[in-house]
Amino acid sequence: MSVLTIRREGDIAIATLDNPPVNALSLEVRQALWDAVEELDADPGVRAVILACAGRTFIAGADVKEFGKPPEPPHLPDLVARIEASETPWIAAIHGSALGGGLEIAMGCRFRIAHESAKVGLPEVNLGIIPGASGTVRTPRLMGAKAAVELVTSGRPISAAKAEKAGLVDAVVAGDLEEEALVFARSALERPLPPRTSERQVEPQPDSFWQDAAKTASKAGHQAPVRAVDCLRRATEASFDEAMAHERETFLELRSAPEAAALRHVFFAERAAPRPAHLKGVEPSDIASAGVVGGGTMGAGIATALGLAGLPVTVMETSDEGAERAKTRILGNFDGALKRGKIDAAERERLGDALKVTTDVSDLSSCDLVVEAVFEDLEVKRDVFARLAAACGDRTILATNTSYLDPREIFAGLEGQGRCIGLHFFSPAHVMKLVEIVPLPGTTPETEAAAFKLCARLGKMPVRAGICDGFIGNRILKRYRAEAEALVEQGVPIAEVDAAMRGFGMKMGPFEAQDLGGLDIAAAQRNAAREAGEDVPETLGDLLVAAGRKGQKSRGGWYDYAEGDRTPQPSGKVSELLSSRVRGTSDLPREDIAARLVDAMAREGEAILSEGIASRSADIDLVEIHGYGFPRRTGGPMHHSGRS
Ligand code: 3HC
Ligand code: NAI
Repeated sequence: MSVLTIRREGDIAIATLDNPPVNALSLEVRQALWDAVEELDADPGVRAVILACAGRTFIAGADVKEFGKPPEPPHLPDLVARIEASETPWIAAIHGSALGGGLEIAMGCRFRIAHESAKVGLPEVNLGIIPGASGTVRTPRLMGAKAAVELVTSGRPISAAKAEKAGLVDAVVAGDLEEEALVFARSALERPLPPRTSERQVEPQPDSFWQDAAKTASKAGHQAPVRAVDCLRRATEASFDEAMAHERETFLELRSAPEAAALRHVFFAERAAPRPAHLKGVEPSDIASAGVVGGGTMGAGIATALGLAGLPVTVMETSDEGAERAKTRILGNFDGALKRGKIDAAERERLGDALKVTTDVSDLSSCDLVVEAVFEDLEVKRDVFARLAAACGDRTILATNTSYLDPREIFAGLEGQGRCIGLHFFSPAHVMKLVEIVPLPGTTPETEAAAFKLCARLGKMPVRAGICDGFIGNRILKRYRAEAEALVEQGVPIAEVDAAMRGFGMKMGPFEAQDLGGLDIAAAQRNAAREAGEDVPETLGDLLVAAGRKGQKSRGGWYDYAEGDRTPQPSGKVSELLSSRVRGTSDLPREDIAARLVDAMAREGEAILSEGIASRSADIDLVEIHGYGFPRRTGGPMHHSGRS
């Protein structure tokens, strides 16, 4: 079956693209469109063409799967130009999203009409590239330089209403898009045609405008947004053809760069992780209400995330004061969401009214899901689940947020193992995207599928993890920290290790991050393991904690901190405390420091993969990117080190 079908409504042709899942502009689609323009141009009985799409969306862009291969004609910029040059006016009828090449095709059309629910955007920078088929050249001609800079450099799509206001689309309609497009076409044909997009003038901007735009774009930490600004500037200052040539050259250069390959890898990984093959066709258990046990750091964050996703939430604490503290925390988080424009005042009020706190386990009895986030203590957790199992129906999904304990031990002996699962959120849980989903041997596919569905509802990135010490993320973190300490023992200054990782793209180095989170938690864990008879060697961190240096909270950890100041200062005291363990000095270059640390992470990732703790190496990359601030533009530690 052809990807493009054409039917007539009198003297108007409706060309409908059907290339599931998102009508991407594969070679076959480009060729079909090209042939259609030729055919319809040659037909005197056709006065206008409506370009519509079947399925969930208008054209979502170039086919990203083709990006690894050499480009084949008809090239997209030529196709856009061919549509624009057509004697017969084309009208793009947009539903779903017109993204990237999809919007570029629409801008080649003489008119664009959009359904009120539609979005349009140029998300190319998210893939490490810039629009490559006139996006930087035609957009400013339709919406002006300022709005075009925002659209192209942010990569964020805008609503149909906003696009209409900006001049990017001509009309927004409700109801049946095709019928509305026919009405629009008939009325448009009664008036003189507007100029083609490429014929429109664009107002130049002063030097300072472009300097500011480049400065803002550089904050993204990768080159595509900055290069896009350069192309947009050219589009306003040079001729159309010259700007097109410059855009194409930049696009092709970026497309074949490692950064774009890494971002493509992340793009596909993010789409694969939420839909594991073994759960295909499994009907998830329903989750319409939730409980959280423990309203501390994690519990409050988890309750916030559940509430913001529209689930009624009940939080259980050990005392009335604890419950009130939890409530204050969660309401504060809702206020934050209001302030950032994520919810409106009415929604904030509704969330406040819907939130319940309790000290009585029977208040959780009707919940479809209960997430436990109490102290990291096996006996405390086991007691919580025993009480939950007695209070709740046997269909309630019971989840633990444990970081390091073995979920099999937490749930041991409990009836109905099929509904038990690990849901490992990251702090702050209403902000961080990652959730490790940790099934137990007895967890049913329906429970696991429900966990994945819940993550989709919460806007989280779920990654399936097997059971081991620290699951995927914290196990790698442990290895990373150990390697960072090994570098210090070798004589690399602590501040050099942190600077190297910041240079690599992490927000913080390993030691600064520990000072922020506190060194005592991991030290306590190591102590507990030692007490349980495990052979855990003394770390440098243990030496600091033993000397009372727990991080920023004790005004000293790996660094010193002045009163009221979070700036890390290298510490003479720390050098003294560690002197017996540091052998000599080292002036290892920062690139080598970062390479060694990333390699250590990737080697641990390899072990995790070979043990089946992670299903795919790309999942490990997602854990690091979404849970630990690993720079997205590198593709994650596995991709970066050629292990994916
Ligand atoms: N090329 C190839 N495949 C694509 C694709 C694309 N541009 N966009 C999405 N897909 C695939 C996904 O990989 C996924 O495949 P799978 O089912 O086999 O896993 C499937 O389409 C569905 O994708 P989503 O799960 O993301 O579906 P949603 O319904 O949640 O979202 C969407 C739809 C909003 C269109 C979203 O897919 C999206 O944002 N896509 C990316 C759009 C994009 O980045 N376009 C720019 C491409 S670059 C370009 O056009 C360059 C040009 O300027 C020259
Ligand atoms: P926290 O100490 O901030 O909060 C724990 C809360 O649980 C306290 O408010 C306490 O009053 C309450 N609580 C204790 N026993 C209870 C019981 N029997 N019934 C009801 N409430 C009870 O601890 P935090 O940091 O929130 O950690 C909770 C869990 O989440 C732990 O298992 C931890 O390992 C895990 N986790 C922590 C992360 C973090 O960064 N803090 C990240 C991911 C997981």
